Amino acid sequence: MALLDKHVILEKNATLLLIFSFLVVTVGGIVEIAPLFYLENTIEKVEGVRPYTPLELAGRNIYIREGCYVCHSQMIRPMRDEVERYGHYSLAAESMYDHPFQWGSKRTGPDLARVGGRYSDEWHVDHLTNPQSVVPESVMPKYGFLLDNVITPESTYIRDMVATNRFVGVPYTDEQMAAIEADFWSQADPDGNVYEDSDPDALVERYPGAQTRNFDGRPEVTEMDALIAYLQVLGTMVDFSTFEPVASR
Ligand code: HEC
Repeated sequence: MALLDKHVILEKNATLLLIFSFLVVTVGGIVEIAPLFYLENTIEKVEGVRPYTPLELAGRNIYIREGCYVCHSQMIRPMRDEVERYGHYSLAAESMYDHPFQWGSKRTGPDLARVGGRYSDEWHVDHLTNPQSVVPESVMPKYGFLLDNVITPESTYIRDMVATNRFVGVPYTDEQMAAIEADFWSQADPDGNVYEDSDPDALVERYPGAQTRNFDGRPEVTEMDALIAYLQVLGTMVDFSTFEPVASR
């Protein structure tokens, strides 16, 4: 009873009630949030996840610029229907080098977290140029103009982009930093049609598993090349035939 009597003081005094409510929320907040900053395994390190190549990063910028995230998520939730449709549920580590992340919250179209390797480059060119030509009932807009937009490391500000990503914590090495322009060309133009010093092997050494080829079939390097290079790497970095979640180890 005595405690309740004291509580009456709080309940009758709005200012005091505010102050004490604030204190309670603060303590609760600290208890919940502070430990997250010290947890080593908030993001579990997973083998295979690497920073994006310069060309993939340029493609990712186009993905963001065109608002693809408005209709597409990139996060497969750990529920049976999702896993059966899209593949292994997304791991936090798979988006740890994404600034900003592209998890999305709206699925007018399907989730794209594991779209890499699901379709051929030609399919992507056809689909992006005219989605209704491959999926007649599609409501996706046409992005054929990407084929006409010729790009260079300068036009995409890719050196600044990579440097900014490194600044916010993506572990690009000094070697990768030194080769940004060369790697940009080597990935989309491995045969050296536009850039004669193309060295795709050196690129793959710096970015294991990077796919190097003419993605859009045009001799020039275009925004279509960059966007498809990005789409084709999505969800392919982790080898799920050997992956074991921490909880089951
Ligand atoms: C207005 C909503 C909308 C926007 C914006 C949009 N899409 Fe789509 N997308 C869809 C729909 C709906 C589908 C399913 C039908 C189809 O395949 O066209 C789809 C399908 C896809 C697929 C095939 C996925 C699969 O697993 O079959 C890819 C890849 C894709 N979109 C990429 C993109 C990219 C890249 C962009 C941005 C340049 C984009 N979409 C913008 C609605 C959208």
